[in-house]
Amino acid sequence: MPVVQKRTKQPTVPPRDAFRYRQLAGEIENKIFSGLYPPGDRLPSIRSLHRQTNLSISTIYQAYRELENAGLVVARPKSGYYVQPVAMQKLEAPIFRKKSSAPQRVSLAPAINSVVEAISNPRLVPLGNTAMDPALLPVKPLARILKSITHSEMRTLLTYSPSEGNPELRRQIALQTTGVMAGITPDDIIVTNGCMEAVALALLAVTRPGDTVAIEAPTNFSFLQLLQELGLLVAEIATDPQEGVDLDELEKSLDRNSVRACLFMPSFQNPLGALMPEANKQRLVEMLSARDVPVIEDDISSQLYFGEPHPRPLKAYDRDGMVLTCSSFSKTLAPGLRLGWIIPGRRFNAKIRRLKAGITMSTSTLDQCVVSRFLSGGGYERHLRTLRSSLKKQLYRTALEIRRHFPAQTRLAIPQGGSLLWVQLPPGVDGLDVYQAAFDRGIATIPGAVCSNSDRFGNYIQISCAAPFSPRLKSAIETLGAIVDSLFPAPGCSRQAPCRP
Ligand SMILES: Cc1ncc(COP(=O)(O)O)c(C=O)c1O
Repeated sequence: MPVVQKRTKQPTVPPRDAFRYRQLAGEIENKIFSGLYPPGDRLPSIRSLHRQTNLSISTIYQAYRELENAGLVVARPKSGYYVQPVAMQKLEAPIFRKKSSAPQRVSLAPAINSVVEAISNPRLVPLGNTAMDPALLPVKPLARILKSITHSEMRTLLTYSPSEGNPELRRQIALQTTGVMAGITPDDIIVTNGCMEAVALALLAVTRPGDTVAIEAPTNFSFLQLLQELGLLVAEIATDPQEGVDLDELEKSLDRNSVRACLFMPSFQNPLGALMPEANKQRLVEMLSARDVPVIEDDISSQLYFGEPHPRPLKAYDRDGMVLTCSSFSKTLAPGLRLGWIIPGRRFNAKIRRLKAGITMSTSTLDQCVVSRFLSGGGYERHLRTLRSSLKKQLYRTALEIRRHFPAQTRLAIPQGGSLLWVQLPPGVDGLDVYQAAFDRGIATIPGAVCSNSDRFGNYIQISCAAPFSPRLKSAIETLGAIVDSLFPAPGCSRQAPCRP
């Protein structure tokens, strides 16, 4: 039992070569978000758009269906398609407070253990669980591959694999980087037990206990747990809810403190969903290289983009071998496989290999074989396309329901990818109180307090959209809205002097 200004959504740019209907859906979506099509407005009829654009009737129909599935428009029989009456463009992003902190020991929020328990409790509505719902995972093809393994293959698969990983899997991972970062070969990749092992190895390679690591505020709470276990100090750097780490703040912190390394999530940051602009990524890498400070990047969600192009990791800008890129198949294939990898770069490659061999020796041979067969069979890209489209729908539907049921003073930004919503509650509402009341009603959420080493995110919660939207989720968000409303002090009242009985 636990106890415990500015921009709205940035339009996504459709790719030139995307399916035409997706391109059209993307254009209309941008117009909805920018307010050009206000809530309740009727979209042009399919026939008039056909005449105007020369696109086929079926392409336009498919685009409208895509928008309908995402909850942005509603079809009215014999009348046409209308923009959702709930205005998404009225969503305001959480306020970005430029506040960084000096190096401190990690002190986990007291609620952390109960939160970790709650989010993995299968009886609770999973609004805090960032692991993908099995309904989104490629269960059938993976089961088929497992069944196809012969007895003689199984004999080999029950033995250890090379410490740096299965050569075919490393080749497949290297192939995945084509067009995203240049020059990555299988030799650059070391397979790990998930992204967390990759991050742990990277921290062990570049720091010693007592060193300071610059982290985003807020950050993934698992990182705080890891950093504490490794005896590291953290300097929290102000992080924009939409654009990620504030580089001016980082520069100031580097000037003032002896920062040994950085640990950032540039693409679809957890918990913010922020995507760092490409120019910022380049500036970040140059700034850190000039100071000889390595940066560990968690790139686990970069393939979950909704628009185009694929966000590039920091590694794409790395000239001096200062970026250690960590990732895994936990968000894209299955977290239970525990398969990840690290691309340490030439400077740290040998050290990471030694650490991997010395600490966990190797990674599951059977799982590596299954995943490498899945990747080489060509099903992965298809699966990713479906997954991205599902996540986008889930995220939009959830945001719409929040807009509908939470008090108007609630703020959230719609990320351009991933599965997370970072919600700033109305003034005076404590995320831990919301977490507790939601837990009592069978709903798991993540209070913002656990995502930071300071107490500046008490007024936030994180909502995960990693499960297909359903009446159960809809009703849970309605309940959450009622909870937030009940905790929202009326004017003139406060937590210290409550007006409600
Ligand atoms: C940003 C981020 N990094 C790492 C992890 C853990 O990854 P893995 O399961 O591959 O160890 C998670 C899990 O949710 C995450 O959200």
